[in-house]
Amino acid sequence: MPKDPQKIAIIGFGAMARSLQASLTKTQSRLAIRATLLPREFHASAELPDSIHLCGTVEELIEWAPSLVVECASHEAVRHAVPELLRAGIDVVVVSVGSLSDGALLADLEKAAQSGKSRLTVASGAIGGLDVLRSAKSAGLDTVIYTGSKPPAAWKGTPADDEFLLSDLRERTVIFEGTALDASTLYPKNANVTAAVALAGIGFERTKVTLIADPTSTSNTHQVEAGGAFGRFSILLENRPLPDNPKTSWLAALSIEQCITRHFQNIEL
Ligand SMILES: NC(=O)c1ccc[n+]([C@@H]2O[C@H](COP(=O)([O-])OP(=O)(O)OC[C@H]3O[C@@H](n4cnc5c(N)ncnc54)[C@H](O)[C@@H]3O)[C@@H](O)[C@H]2O)c1
Repeated sequence: MPKDPQKIAIIGFGAMARSLQASLTKTQSRLAIRATLLPREFHASAELPDSIHLCGTVEELIEWAPSLVVECASHEAVRHAVPELLRAGIDVVVVSVGSLSDGALLADLEKAAQSGKSRLTVASGAIGGLDVLRSAKSAGLDTVIYTGSKPPAAWKGTPADDEFLLSDLRERTVIFEGTALDASTLYPKNANVTAAVALAGIGFERTKVTLIADPTSTSNTHQVEAGGAFGRFSILLENRPLPDNPKTSWLAALSIEQCITRHFQNIEL
């Protein structure tokens, strides 16, 4: 039976959810978000349009019977809500990808999806080229290196803030070099991108991560380089932020829209 594209629900209602909602409305898409899962403690931060039904618990959302749930909230929300939804037979798209660096959670999600005969899709978010990593790995990938660069002020409140006088940096400075596993733990604000690269390619322990504070640049960049039996690959992304939220990249919100569109297509383009 075809699933109803007018019965999509979202977990959270922050910057990305609002951007997605606005974009679907503006383009008069056949897809519509009609409900949100927002426990009471998060109500105050959301400005919900009247067209969106508010569910305070996962049980209420399951009862509302969404055709697809899109998680746009937090790592905690993935842990708390997604396994139950999958067990109830509801497909889910996850954007807080950093949560999946927790192997135990990933195993739980797999079990839940098997038991509910449902599907979890990981949005590519702020990074690209994941299709290449996924395809190339079956012939053998030797190296995958992710390099993330941001202006020094963007690393405030991270371990780099203790090690470097960020405001005094005058040249590009490497603030972290290590595995994607360590990067996910030490730099959680970067965890979504490092996790997406690690999951698509050769895993958290073999993916190398370099993080850079660059006082000569005002933008955030993401570079992925990979080599293996297939050949070599390199991609550089310079993402613009969402017009109304400087901390979230526009591409991440657009990637969710793409994920949802594909979910309801008969031919996945
Ligand atoms: N994959 C990527 O490349 C990528 C890029 C940017 C952001 N993200 C992730 O996407 C998520 C949303 O980003 P955003 O910019 O919209 O954030 P935001 O802070 O603007 O909005 C998050 C919303 O979720 C709500 N929320 C938090 N915990 C919740 C929970 N347990 N249950 C229900 N609602 C909850 C908050 O109240 C808020 O409304 C974050 O986890 C962020 O890390 C991923």
